[in-house]
Amino acid sequence: EKVVLAYSGGLDTTAIIPWLKETFDYEVICCCIDCGQGNELVGLDERAKLSGASKLYIENVIDEFSEDFIMPCVKAGAVYENKYLLGTSMARPVIAKKLVEIARKEGAVAICHGATGKGNDQIRFELGIKALAPDIKVIAPWRMTDVWTMQSREDELAYCKAHGIDLPFDANHSYSRDRNLWHISHEGLELEDPSNEPNYDDLLVLTTPPEKAPDEGEYVTMTFEAGVPKTLNGKEMKVSEIITELNKLGGKHGIGIVDIVENRVVGMKSRGVYETPGGTILMAAHEQLEELILDRETLKTKKDLGNLLAEVVYEGKWYTPLREAIQAFVDVTQKYVTGEVKFKLFKGNIIKAGESSPYSLYNESLASFTTGDLYDHHDADGFITLFGLPLKVRAMKMQELEKN
Ligand code: ARG
Ligand code: SIN
Repeated sequence: EKVVLAYSGGLDTTAIIPWLKETFDYEVICCCIDCGQGNELVGLDERAKLSGASKLYIENVIDEFSEDFIMPCVKAGAVYENKYLLGTSMARPVIAKKLVEIARKEGAVAICHGATGKGNDQIRFELGIKALAPDIKVIAPWRMTDVWTMQSREDELAYCKAHGIDLPFDANHSYSRDRNLWHISHEGLELEDPSNEPNYDDLLVLTTPPEKAPDEGEYVTMTFEAGVPKTLNGKEMKVSEIITELNKLGGKHGIGIVDIVENRVVGMKSRGVYETPGGTILMAAHEQLEELILDRETLKTKKDLGNLLAEVVYEGKWYTPLREAIQAFVDVTQKYVTGEVKFKLFKGNIIKAGESSPYSLYNESLASFTTGDLYDHHDADGFITLFGLPLKVRAMKMQELEKN
């Protein structure tokens, strides 16, 4: 029987290969789902095969991730607990989808992942798999404490050696990281104590600290069509290319570094530092354009649903009717989110420098202080009388009660 293993090439998932063979006698099909983790893919095939896998799939899903998973969250303005742009959370459902596709193609009976029993990722992988393939068995070694006895990197290295796998893994302890096109996360080490300032010089991968960013700001122009970015500085590009370019620009100017103590689904608080340079710019630019286009009540409802979507995605409930319904609402609001925004990047800041849209609801003569045809100042008299009626009635009652 075959098992499909979500494989990253790191020590944890490499040690799982011989373990799956020894513990369950499975044939191991490794899958590395490339959501844009960069150089981490070099030498992976050799590593997987040397460790006893019968096959390694490397699936590039960068465009699907960008268009079908990142963009719905951007359009919705989905941000978890006011800070976290969901970089890891959004990638798990596309990974689960690909794991299921490969499991079907290979006729595998199980899918295995290397997430721990204390985190969010186990939930996201498994809810995704359940929703797409309820018949497939899930194996989560880190929760199987009776058969998975490795507790440290040293244990894993020893286990690999004992199984004839002699690979150059560095033994040094580093941050727990997760990288894709949208972000890189850092957890562990000094971050585990929230009273510590992050050791930014060792930590940052995509960005420069703002104080080391150039002293000169840099202007950027973007256009959007129906909520989707189309051009960057006049050049037409697909979404994944725009994010790649924005990552370079944002990284250079120290944009998008977040330090958060967040609430995990499993109940504990955890400390993370996330770098989302391009994503932070893309979400700000999109929001900048929406200001012109959405009416007040739609904007407010969309904000509420965006917060709800953030929770839904964080909790791994991508493949649910609720996520689809929120996305459908948001897509309706995006119909006229078309136009151009300009802003300046400067030492960690995104500073607005103008926006325009053929669908703008901003009416200059209405907004200016001179009287025009559309707005008669006298109308405000009656409006305020009615608008203020309930609080006037209450104040009158209070006066009356005080007198008695
Ligand atoms: N705390 C973040 C989240 O729940 C980041 C998780 C990072 N995952 C990882 N395997 N390093 O989405
Ligand atoms: C893990 O525990 O596997 C990583 C962190 C998380 O999933 O929240």
